[in-house]
Amino acid sequence: MNTKAASKVASKVAIVTGASSGIGAAAARRLHDRGYVVYAAARRIEMMAPLAEAGIRAMRVDVTDDASLTAFIAQIISETGRIDILVNNAGYGSLGALEDVPMAEARRQFDVNLFGLARLVQLVVPHMRKQRDGRIINISSIGGRVHLPMCGWYHATKFAVEGYSDTLRMELAPFGIHVVVIAPGAIDTEWHAVAGDNLIATSGHSAYEKQATALAKVLSVGGLASAPEVIGDAIVRASEARRPRTRYRVGLGAKPVLVARWALPDKTFDRLVRLVMGVGSRVAGSPPVAKIAAGRTS
Ligand SMILES: NC(=O)c1ccc[n+]([C@@H]2O[C@H](COP(=O)([O-])OP(=O)(O)OC[C@H]3O[C@@H](n4cnc5c(N)ncnc54)[C@H](OP(=O)(O)O)[C@@H]3O)[C@@H](O)[C@H]2O)c1
Repeated sequence: MNTKAASKVASKVAIVTGASSGIGAAAARRLHDRGYVVYAAARRIEMMAPLAEAGIRAMRVDVTDDASLTAFIAQIISETGRIDILVNNAGYGSLGALEDVPMAEARRQFDVNLFGLARLVQLVVPHMRKQRDGRIINISSIGGRVHLPMCGWYHATKFAVEGYSDTLRMELAPFGIHVVVIAPGAIDTEWHAVAGDNLIATSGHSAYEKQATALAKVLSVGGLASAPEVIGDAIVRASEARRPRTRYRVGLGAKPVLVARWALPDKTFDRLVRLVMGVGSRVAGSPPVAKIAAGRTS
């Protein structure tokens, strides 16, 4: 590590949730390498043993449990007296047709992906306000701007993270606190296996079987996805840029997919998605997929 960069961040404290695998583990390591004191949080503390061996402080935290979050932040403040970076990364994909997903599971998806993040913000912001400095980095997804069938509740949480973060950015700017959204594309982590299992368990044998199995096949093609370190690097950039961007869109497909969503009318985008998934050429009112493939989308 560059010594100048290391000394600049030597006493800064960073929190990373969802650090037991994937993006969170990569982010914790990258921030630790840059000289931050890193607190890594997840439920599976045993999965964070390699982080702890590297000098990262690993703690068992469930983001849906208020007492667990409160104790976590209290411990960090008693040990270090400050919090400079909060990376809200914990999340999972609760997939399945909207008709099939039990409402209790939909609520759990919001508890983990949105309310856990929002509660941590409430616990951390008073300390950042006192410091008149701090950064909150919320891990959203390109799924916070685009949609696939079978991912409705996941999209609902990530669209919510996007809107929530925009408001938070405006509210915290006068206190010198930056709020950044990171929107990963496809990243090679446990996310796809967890989401694929949820999908098949929920809709693999229902009226939506065809769409569910088609999407499960797309999710299982993990080889092309970007490494989680790509997002870890973006998190470091967002943590250290003098003027961080409001959004970082990184990882396989992130930019092209978002441009396509921006450029295409809703129904054309729907057809493109069906084409990629290989399903539903004759879903209510839409022309056959073959017509789209031939470039006739109107
Ligand atoms: N992978 C992708 O392609 C992709 C794309 C866009 C966005 N994202 C987002 O990136 C974030 C990280 O996902 P990932 O890809 O790194 O997936 P991952 O490897 O499955 O990691 C998810 C992390 O979230 C933690 N987590 C889940 N529920 C939790 C809870 N109740 N309390 C505390 N921690 C919890 C898990 O830890 P424990 O199970 O040990 O608690 C795990 O460390 C998520 O918000 C995801 O939606 C991922």
